[in-house]
Amino acid sequence: MASILITGSSDGLGRLAAQALLAGGHDVIVHARNLARLSACQDLLDAGARGVHGDLSDQDEVRGIAEQVNRLGQPDSVIHNAGVLDGPVLSVNVVAPYLLTALLPDAGRHVYLSSSMHRGGSPKIDRYDFAHPDAASYSDSKFLVTALMLALARLRLDILANAVDPGWVPTKMGGTGAPDDLDDGWRTQAWLAAGPDAAAHGSGGYWHHRRRQDPHPQTADAGVQDELLVKLAEHTGVGW
Ligand SMILES: NC(=O)c1ccc[n+]([C@@H]2O[C@H](COP(=O)([O-])OP(=O)(O)OC[C@H]3O[C@@H](n4cnc5c(N)ncnc54)[C@H](OP(=O)(O)O)[C@@H]3O)[C@@H](O)[C@H]2O)c1
Repeated sequence: MASILITGSSDGLGRLAAQALLAGGHDVIVHARNLARLSACQDLLDAGARGVHGDLSDQDEVRGIAEQVNRLGQPDSVIHNAGVLDGPVLSVNVVAPYLLTALLPDAGRHVYLSSSMHRGGSPKIDRYDFAHPDAASYSDSKFLVTALMLALARLRLDILANAVDPGWVPTKMGGTGAPDDLDDGWRTQAWLAAGPDAAAHGSGGYWHHRRRQDPHPQTADAGVQDELLVKLAEHTGVGW
């Protein structure tokens, strides 16, 4: 059985993944943006999950989440699930996963929620200003987090890093008219984080419904990845 931190588990795919992993006997750490939202996970906490809280758009709060998790004991896996469609897309969808990856160095598996929309993101790293987290599109943020995953897979051979496109599913973000199956939306990341046979999926995969796909080709460009890592290290003061 694995221990798994899932960011943004107060709703949507994060909550569904937490529910299923807990039911499967895993040790789950749920996360919500604040204590009030953590109460949306009360049924999961009652069933044995442990909880942490903090706003992922605020670097100090992300550091606070890592401290809370470190006090509980570092998990085997992290599902970087939380995301926003607009507003502070760079801080929530990119900087927070980067920082949590750096601040939880013992986690051996990292799963990042990407999106098919990453294909519309820009690979021009010099145009991103992380001091203005809303000055980029959702597609840009998912391009960047996919490149981040591939950088981790390239540079940290001791870690399994993968990304998931969950499909367009009916959550708060996806909307009620979303056409894809909701359960297919969380199963792949739960499998990547806690499946017994890590070698079956390896590292550096971009997954949709348990099948590898080719992401935007420039996410795999080492120059793009390195430029991104330099910018994130400058912005956070924390390197990988
Ligand atoms: N739904 C889709 O069709 C779809 C498609 C492609 C990719 N994705 C990706 O899948 C992931 C999960 O999406 P979802 O559909 O489950 O979204 P959702 O229903 O909107 O849930 C998002 C979760 O992230 C949390 N969150 C957002 N901003 C936060 C912040 N600043 N600090 C802490 N927590 C924060 C939310 O907390 P609150 O409940 O407090 O807001 C919620 O728990 C996201 O990364 C998304 O980009 C979704």
